[in-house]
Amino acid sequence: MNSSILSVGAYVPPQIMTNQELPASLDTSDEWIRTRTGIEQRHVAGPEETTASVSIKASERALKAMALDPRELDWIMLCTDTPEMWSPATACFVQDALGAQYASAIDLTGGCAGFLQTLQIADKMAQAGETVLVIGTEVLTKSLDWTDRSTAVLFGDGSGAVVVGPSNEGIRIVHAKSQSDGSQADILGKPYGGTRNPITPELVADGHLHTIHMEGQKVFKRAVQDMGSMALQVMQDAQINAQDIDWVIPHQANQRIIDAVAHHAGIVKERVFSHVAKYANTGSASIVIALADMIRNGLVKPGQNLLTVAFGSGFSWGSQLWKVNQVPPAIFE
Ligand SMILES: CC(C)(COP(=O)(O)OP(=O)(O)OC[C@H]1O[C@@H](n2cnc3c(N)ncnc32)[C@H](O)[C@@H]1OP(=O)(O)O)[C@@H](O)C(=O)NCCC(=O)NCCS
Repeated sequence: MNSSILSVGAYVPPQIMTNQELPASLDTSDEWIRTRTGIEQRHVAGPEETTASVSIKASERALKAMALDPRELDWIMLCTDTPEMWSPATACFVQDALGAQYASAIDLTGGCAGFLQTLQIADKMAQAGETVLVIGTEVLTKSLDWTDRSTAVLFGDGSGAVVVGPSNEGIRIVHAKSQSDGSQADILGKPYGGTRNPITPELVADGHLHTIHMEGQKVFKRAVQDMGSMALQVMQDAQINAQDIDWVIPHQANQRIIDAVAHHAGIVKERVFSHVAKYANTGSASIVIALADMIRNGLVKPGQNLLTVAFGSGFSWGSQLWKVNQVPPAIFE
């Protein structure tokens, strides 16, 4: 049995922060950010919003879109680098709120490629007959160092969820591939607060060490190289030419990376979806939010071939070829 994406839900917090509204502590400018990244604004979680609360909103939309009874879910797999808390899994809060009483709930962490990695696992489970809610969520703005201008300007908050099940109706996952290189773990991540660098009074007093750390230029280089190569590999494995790809849905990291990956993979710019200007980099949520936005705008049509590709901390990266048999219902208001 094939597996397909049967419905899509996405949620971004209503509060928008434009480049001009970024804190003065960043000593940046709208012009610098637009030129280097294409980002114009980001959605930012309010004080009362958390990873679980935004995930619940996206999940409710995915279930509502296809009128699925939550008790039919076998699994809830939530991918995030910014969990509700260390333990238990954020997915358990979602399971409870949805009333998915027969589901097993678990979190996975894969950086910005995490949603594709999680979907790759869910695809196999759906092929075996299970119905899986796959969620990609980040509340990154609560994990940023707001004095680090090279990192803080890049990210935004949001959540996306898809229901994946054993079916040919929807977006069929034709081919999926992903890979990791843990030797690059120090380049991008949130290294403090775990067992290697436990929370201490000094750590808390510093006020910066619990936040995301990134060496931007190194990330840029590998992101372009690895996403481009992986996209080419997936097309080759699936025996499909770049001309037959209707849309590339790249991880919305920044416009310069998106353009360079498309060039590397031989795909013309007009077929590469980007809304990074409006949402910035929402990490694990970015590909689902992009898919929901595309469906909302009527860009996804039956018969299309969609190529999706992502890269993030780890490093981990992945790409998938999707075939649109039917456009899945989607809610993204
Ligand atoms: C972060 C990134 C935009 C920085 O752009 P860059 O062209 O590499 O810039 P550099 O890091 O070389 O910095 C150049 C200068 O701009 C400055 N700068 C960095 N961020 C700035 C900002 N937001 N505003 C103004 N100046 C900034 C630097 O301090 C540096 O100044 P200096 O020359 O006086 O030291 C770029 O490296 C990038 O996009 N990397 C990938 C990041 C990413 O997408 N990560 C997530 C992947 S999942």
